[in-house]
Amino acid sequence: MSASASTTAAGRRFPDRFLWGTATSAYQIEGAADAEGKGESIWDRFCTIPGTITDGSDGRTACDHYHRYADDVALMRRLNLGAYRFSIAWTRVMPTGRGPVNQAGLDFYDRLVDELLGAGITPFATLYHWDLPQALEDLGGWPARATAEAFAEYAAVAVERLGDRVGAWTTMNEPFVIANLGYLTGEHAPGRTNLADAVAASHHVLLGHGLANAAIRATRPDVEVGITLNFTPVTAVGSSPFALDRQRVTNEYENLWYSEAIGGKGYPAFTVERLGWDQREVQPGDMELISAPIDFLGVNFYTRKMVGAIDGERVERGDHTTMGWEIHPEALGNLLRTLHEDYKFPRIYITENGAAMPDTDRVEGLVADRDRIDYIADHLGQVLDAIDEGIPVAGYFAWSLLDNFEWAHGYGPKFGLVEVDPVTLERTPKQSAIWYSELARTGELRVP
Ligand code: FCB
Repeated sequence: MSASASTTAAGRRFPDRFLWGTATSAYQIEGAADAEGKGESIWDRFCTIPGTITDGSDGRTACDHYHRYADDVALMRRLNLGAYRFSIAWTRVMPTGRGPVNQAGLDFYDRLVDELLGAGITPFATLYHWDLPQALEDLGGWPARATAEAFAEYAAVAVERLGDRVGAWTTMNEPFVIANLGYLTGEHAPGRTNLADAVAASHHVLLGHGLANAAIRATRPDVEVGITLNFTPVTAVGSSPFALDRQRVTNEYENLWYSEAIGGKGYPAFTVERLGWDQREVQPGDMELISAPIDFLGVNFYTRKMVGAIDGERVERGDHTTMGWEIHPEALGNLLRTLHEDYKFPRIYITENGAAMPDTDRVEGLVADRDRIDYIADHLGQVLDAIDEGIPVAGYFAWSLLDNFEWAHGYGPKFGLVEVDPVTLERTPKQSAIWYSELARTGELRVP
């Protein structure tokens, strides 16, 4: 760790080298759905199916970041941001998922990275944020082992081209969501609904991470590799055996499934047995690949979950965001403690945290989003406590830089620090962006 966190008269202070950033993902902001040789992804396809997206929208234009990236980088610079987490669209690089490389697609990320470096912003690239090439889904998608192998090939190509300037690589974003919303509940692309497929997908997404980790290190031993997991801590309502059982299974299935596998402890036995999973997809050597050392763990945190209420039982919940997600910052602090205790990853980045809020109040033309400021400040207070306790949290990426395409919810939920006019796509910082830029400049956590 660098300088330790301390309290000043003005506010509590983060360590000097703490990274302040924002996060986005390709499909949610880029638009340019068919530009310059890009192939079709499962999200391009999914959005054409009636009823999949609440407002019937899609990411074909989104925030048009593909064409406005230079302005967006300039905006980040004005906001004093030191880091930026973006994702690379596999379909721009390899339009059908495997084989021929589309140089024009790589050129876009090349320009973006140079623009970021020119602005003094450290790039954090994510290789997979949910936009699988449709051609690979047609061959079986994540339930097929070959998809993991294809992913590692693509990872090596991206790192070969950009690894001289991008020092931090995240393989997957939220394996739980990829496997379960994509293949079990069908809320996300590709919209399949089969438990065996979801479980197979969960293993192959993790295997894809492991194979990519090895391929990246073989390509460029000097870059850092990590994975971003989402965590939704689970609280039992009361202490009935039913509630405690729900708590255990839900926590193992949604959280520990991924962290235990990455941390070298294998899939949680209790839930593996409960599912009756015979682990036929797990081949010799897979778990070693999956648990090979990483340089950092990315943590996405938004809310906790309460389970096990018996019909009619009253459940005390805190305030919630417009996603209906309960606001419970303490769960983040406790999560960081548990992760550190259980796995001791060399570093942790909060790769996503943020809130969809109503954004209905304005002051002098700016969205007056005090609620979003409070949400972020309260979570950062927990991060600071963790740092004080010696937990190596090295940076925070607010979700998100821009209001954007929120997957199956379309453009309804607003997560941005920066407002995007739905018609002109003009960007206007909200009060939260101004507040966050001061925090990034001073490292002092102050609430207005
Ligand atoms: C996360 C996703 C991100 C965004 C936020 C709100 O699960 O990684 O793309 O949708 O939720």
